[in-house]
Amino acid sequence: MARFRPMNRIEEGKGSRNVARFDEDGTAVHLQQEDSPQPITFTFDRVFNPRSLQSEVYEYAAKPLIEDLFQGYYATVFAYGQTGSGKTFTMEGVAPREPADAASESVDELGGGEDLRGVIPRAVEHIFDITQANSELTEFKVTVQYAEIYMERIRDLLDRSGTKNNLEIRVDPARGVYIEGATEVVVKRDGELKKVLSRGSHKRHVSATGMNEESSRSHAICMISVAQKDRMDLTVKTGKLFLVDLAGSEMVSKTGATDQRLEEAKQINKSLSALGNVIKALTDGKSSYIPYRDSKLTRILQDSLGGGSRASLIIACSPASYNYTETVSTLRFGTRAKFIKYKPRVHVGYGGNEMDSLLEKKEQELAALREQVHLMSQEVKGVIAANAAYKKVYGAPPVIRADQPPGMSMPEKLDFAVQTCRALLREVGAIRQEAGLCRRASAEVEKHLREERMIFSQLRSDVSKVALKTISGSGGGDDRLGGEAVVKDVEGIDKILAMAKWKVEGILKKMKPLAMAAGASEVAAKKSAEMAHLALRKCLDGA
Ligand SMILES: Nc1ncnc2c1ncn2[C@@H]1O[C@H](COP(=O)(O)OP(=O)(O)OP(=O)(O)O)[C@@H](O)[C@H]1O
Ligand SMILES: [Mg+2]
Repeated sequence: MARFRPMNRIEEGKGSRNVARFDEDGTAVHLQQEDSPQPITFTFDRVFNPRSLQSEVYEYAAKPLIEDLFQGYYATVFAYGQTGSGKTFTMEGVAPREPADAASESVDELGGGEDLRGVIPRAVEHIFDITQANSELTEFKVTVQYAEIYMERIRDLLDRSGTKNNLEIRVDPARGVYIEGATEVVVKRDGELKKVLSRGSHKRHVSATGMNEESSRSHAICMISVAQKDRMDLTVKTGKLFLVDLAGSEMVSKTGATDQRLEEAKQINKSLSALGNVIKALTDGKSSYIPYRDSKLTRILQDSLGGGSRASLIIACSPASYNYTETVSTLRFGTRAKFIKYKPRVHVGYGGNEMDSLLEKKEQELAALREQVHLMSQEVKGVIAANAAYKKVYGAPPVIRADQPPGMSMPEKLDFAVQTCRALLREVGAIRQEAGLCRRASAEVEKHLREERMIFSQLRSDVSKVALKTISGSGGGDDRLGGEAVVKDVEGIDKILAMAKWKVEGILKKMKPLAMAAGASEVAAKKSAEMAHLALRKCLDGA
């Protein structure tokens, strides 16, 4: 988005006229120099005109990002623009007057009694409003780091020792890009955080130039980290908010920079052109290399620029003809930056002891799952064995085609196949049981038959003995075996035969239902096997 400030005294003193015209809907600005035939139009998600309020800018440019911060995203708000264009005013704003200041130069002159606090104090207040409203369910830890890049050196603005003036940038897979050794202050209330930030802000390099009485000579980066632990599931989300007030680009002829101011201006312009090159490489669609390493600024903001963080870029502009050229080039930079593709990611993890207990719980769950997998693999082995049996009977199964069965998704097909295999296994089990019963029944019948055969052979030998006696007796042989004895023997044989007949009838009676049962089992087994065969073929064929 772009924000235009009101014309200032320097510009009025140069006889400037207003070159910016704003569309009613707040999305376009038209810039026209007196001598140019037609205006140049720039469109953004939002264009704030010089009458826009600090609260409006905050609501649109930063508030949604604070909400993202609590979802565990990294978020960045940048202010970019030429020197004196209103970056620091937008980011820091003007603190409300203390009663003792009332008589001194009035800041209210600027806003006519408006609350002139900028994005940073509003964001701080908003963050603590959210933490307080949710403290029952969530435990929060808010920490802050504040650093400036001055003359290509990173200086810790919260360092009390005064020694951290040249810190290094490091990259860590878990933390992302960070400043090694930067002071991190834990804050519990918004007042506390504001005090820390105001202390840091006062340490920042600021000087008067021909363009701005309080010109920022460094890029300032304030990092507010919000870690929130869910008291129920113990997850820890860590969102980070980067609030960046860049130093402004400057034309040395206008700022009148000499000596140290000139050296500062050179470094500022150099790092801003590195920023421009990174944005160009990110958006031109053909660069495979992004020159983040060309400046400390681009290295620190690597994550925010590269799309890993949600970002709001506020292009600060002057509406005066005196700064027309710079305003056009600043807006061109903003137009290019619109094309950066953001792919923000949530930063969720676990912390401390809770992490250990959670890990233990997860490991137990994992062990139970492993057991389940083992059982399932046994089951699968069973299915494979059943399939081998199937193959023996019905030959090779048809090949599964990925597009079948029609109308079913692949997971549905697999589910169907598993269900079918289970049904098949049940059928096979039932068939085996029935076959076992039949085997036992026929073994019993055979045992009976063997017994009866023995009885018959015994009978046969008895009968033949008696017959032999009878024949020899009637042929004038042994008198002791007369007619009476033969009759007795024959009667005995009759009895034995009657008994044998009765036994055979008994056996036949027993065998009949057994034979019927065996027949019925055979039919049922055949039917079941056919059904199982059909089910499997349906599953594999998708028919
Ligand atoms: N929207 C605004 N309304 C009123 N005054 C503003 C506005 N924006 C900026 N100013 C005033 O303009 C002056 C310059 O603004 P500021 O210091 O924010 O510029 P800057 O972009 O930070 O410049 P530098 O790059 O030099 O740091 C300040 O006095 C500031 O109060
Ligand atoms: Mg500034």
